[in-house]
Amino acid sequence: LLSAPPLQLAESYFKLYPVEADPVWGNPCDDPRHQKIWSRNKSCDSLPKFLVIGPQKTGTTALYTFLSLHPAIASNLPSPTTFEEIQFFNAHNYLRGLDWYMDFFPTDSNSSARYYFEKSATYFDGELVPKRVHALLPRAKLITILISPAKRAYSWYQHTKAHGDIIANNYSFHQVITASDTAPKPLRDLRNRCLNPGKYAQHLERWMTYFPSTYIHIIDGEELKNSPVEVMNEVQKFLKIMPFFNYTEHLRFDPKKGFYCQVITGDHTKCLGRSKGRQYPPMEEKSLKYLQRYYLSHNTALVKLFKKNGNRNIPNWLKEDLSDKP
Ligand code: A3P
Repeated sequence: LLSAPPLQLAESYFKLYPVEADPVWGNPCDDPRHQKIWSRNKSCDSLPKFLVIGPQKTGTTALYTFLSLHPAIASNLPSPTTFEEIQFFNAHNYLRGLDWYMDFFPTDSNSSARYYFEKSATYFDGELVPKRVHALLPRAKLITILISPAKRAYSWYQHTKAHGDIIANNYSFHQVITASDTAPKPLRDLRNRCLNPGKYAQHLERWMTYFPSTYIHIIDGEELKNSPVEVMNEVQKFLKIMPFFNYTEHLRFDPKKGFYCQVITGDHTKCLGRSKGRQYPPMEEKSLKYLQRYYLSHNTALVKLFKKNGNRNIPNWLKEDLSDKP
């Protein structure tokens, strides 16, 4: 029998069982044997009951802010690096383990009254995310927001540009979205970040292999923008959350911002920061046409998915994107 120091032993082990090098965290509370050996100061309440999964640029910050106004709902503690988003399930943070994640959801004496959630807009299109979320939170409810994928791509481009990204500042939106596979890598990366999350049906199908469609609530991002009270009422129904919170008293359209904002007192509202609801020129017609063509099969698949799951309310943006067939 041979042995070796721990690190070497681990290397040999993972050479033999490479699949196991990629951990999948399960929920200790789902197995009495695990719960028995778990530290006493850990609590099953330190996990979210629902997730807002994105995708980016669809209004996720507005939804996050509106949800946080609800007295029975609490979000995670902020992350020092990614602010309100934990981004646990999609990237390197996953390898930090369960304790790291659970520390974002502290339990105190009235924790059971809290309906914890987290919003990480990068979850929507992450390859491994649905599998990982399901392993840890099989009963979690999921909320996604969809807007026209063309609009989403443009908003992402503007976001990157506003952050001083060299590629976004050196290439027009049209150049980015039409960049070929032989283009320089940073340009292809930006193109992919603009285009890939918008292949909604593909990503939703992946979530639906792990979660029943009744666990997934799809918000029309245009409705969130124009009628947030109605959207929040539907969200409350979906979550079956009590008490019912009257958002009419807490959200008001702010003409200066051009969006709904939180009512603070009488005339005062608190809107999202400058990076949300940016002012930028409209998308060029040729880019819009290009993207409508690009997303045609994806949008068609999305309509099918909606119908298959008994969702008769096809968003107007989806009908419009499809009606402008080339
Ligand atoms: P733009 O800045 O391109 O207009 P996210 O929070 O997911 O990054 O999404 C940002 C988008 O949320 C904004 O994109 C904006 O259109 C949209 N949005 C929806 N409701 C909003 C609100 N009440 N305040 C500000 N932005 C809102």
